[in-house]
Amino acid sequence: MSTWRNEEWQSGDPAMDTEHQKLHQMASSMTAVVMNDPGLGLATEAVDVLRERMRLHFRMEEQALARTDPESASILKEDHARLLLLLGRVRDALADGGIEDCKHLLTEFNTAMDKHDREVDIPLFRMQNKGKRDPLAS
Ligand SMILES: [Fe+2]
Ligand SMILES: [Fe+2]
Repeated sequence: MSTWRNEEWQSGDPAMDTEHQKLHQMASSMTAVVMNDPGLGLATEAVDVLRERMRLHFRMEEQALARTDPESASILKEDHARLLLLLGRVRDALADGGIEDCKHLLTEFNTAMDKHDREVDIPLFRMQNKGKRDPLAS
């Protein structure tokens, strides 16, 4: 989850890196709330808030890429839909009251988010930002 703080994994666009740090802070907060849910319904609300925030984040990324690389934007969109599905499963497990299932699904979601950042977001936005810095770069 600390991917975006690691210099090795920065995208080349400070605004994009800051946006990811904020999103990851929210995901960490949601994880803490779910792991410590005393049964007050706070966990479900935390998941819903993150889900809406993720939708906005994903839309921003897809629009940013669609302008310069529509083919990659569709790959991005597909992986985003998968992440939302994984978070939806966490919410379903919460609704069913299966806390152990929920914790397992939450770990799966966080691992998938990290993998998405390392293998999809960062390479794509790095490529896009490289193009912005030098229009003649291949
Ligand atoms: Fe992202
Ligand atoms: Fe993304």
